[in-house]
Amino acid sequence: MTAPIPHLPPATPLSEPESRRFAEDVIAGLTAPRKHLAAKYFYDRQGSALFEAITRLPEYYPTRTELGILARHGAEIAATLPAGAALVEFGSGSTQKLRRLLPHLGDLAVYVPVDVSADFLRSEAEELGRDFPSLRVAPVAADFSRVFTLPPEAEAAPRAGFFPGSTIGNFEPEAAAALLRHFAAILGPQATLIVGVDLVKDKAVLEAAYDDAAGVTAAFNLNLLARINREVGADFDLAAFAHRAFFDTAQSRIEMHLVSRRAQRVTVATMPISFAAGETIHTENSYKYTIESFRSLARSAGWEGRAVWTDPDGLFSVHALTASSIRRH
Ligand code: AVJ
Repeated sequence: MTAPIPHLPPATPLSEPESRRFAEDVIAGLTAPRKHLAAKYFYDRQGSALFEAITRLPEYYPTRTELGILARHGAEIAATLPAGAALVEFGSGSTQKLRRLLPHLGDLAVYVPVDVSADFLRSEAEELGRDFPSLRVAPVAADFSRVFTLPPEAEAAPRAGFFPGSTIGNFEPEAAAALLRHFAAILGPQATLIVGVDLVKDKAVLEAAYDDAAGVTAAFNLNLLARINREVGADFDLAAFAHRAFFDTAQSRIEMHLVSRRAQRVTVATMPISFAAGETIHTENSYKYTIESFRSLARSAGWEGRAVWTDPDGLFSVHALTASSIRRH
C-alpha cells in the first residue's frame, strides 16, 4: 500500500540522552489514561522519507500551495524584510521554500538555518553556497524551540525570521503563542517574521489530506510503532493497528490516531501495555487557523500582522508579522 520512497535523507541517529528521553516519553504516553505519542518522533530516517512522499500526494495540498504562494509573491514577501537583514530559518527542513525568496533578497546580510541535524545543515549549506555564491550562510545546530545564540554575523544586522510549512500547527495554541514569543525574543525589536499557516477549509478536503488513498499517511503514522519496536524495544504488530485521521471542528484541528484493531497486549521496554479493541493512541494534532484567528494568536504573542498572502482557493496563508513595540513576555 505504501508508495515508493524516492530517496532516504541522511540518518540522524538519536544521541544517548535523546534516546533515553524518547523511551521515557513513549512509556509515559502509553501508560497515560488516554494513550498518546509526540508527533516530533515521526521523523526518523524512514519517517522523514515518508513525509517527503506525503508532500507529493495529490491530496496533500499544503506544501505545493505554500511553494506556489512563495513563488508568486516572493518579491512582495521579500520586500517586508528590513534591508540588509539576517534571515533566521527555524527548523530548516529543506531549502526549497527559501529558494523562492532568495532571488528577491539580494541585500541579505546572512542566512541562518537553525536545525537539530548538524549533518543535514552542513549539506544544505554547501548546496546553497553552490547555487547562490554571494550568499553568506551561518548554520546553527540547535533545537529552535530552545534558547540559542545567533552567530556573530547576525549580531549587527536587523533580523527576520522564516517559519514555513505550517509547523506552527503541530503546537497547542498556547504553546504556539509561547513559540512566537520565543522567536520575538531571539529576533529582537523591529524584527519581521514570515510564517506559513494552513487554513480552515472544507472538512472533506482536510481529511483527505491526512488520509490519502495510497496509504502513505497511514504508513507514516504506523512507522512510529516500527520505530518504537526498533529503538525502545517493543513488539507492536503493525497489522493490529489502523490509521485514523479526522477534523475536529470545535478545536479546529486534524487529529491523527492509531486504532487498536482488537484487544491486545504489547510489551514496550519490558512494560506490559494493554489495549482494548478500538482504543487509540493519539499521535498528532495539526491545528488549522483562519487569517484572523492566527493574527489574534500572533498579537497575543507580541507580533502585529503586516501582510498576508494566500492562494486563489484560500487553502494556505503566508503571514508577514512585525514585532510590536509593547512586549508581553
Ligand atoms: C509537518 C506538521 C506541517 O501537519 O500537515 C502531514 C505533518 N502529518 N501529514 C502537517 C503531517 C500528517 C505536517 N506538518
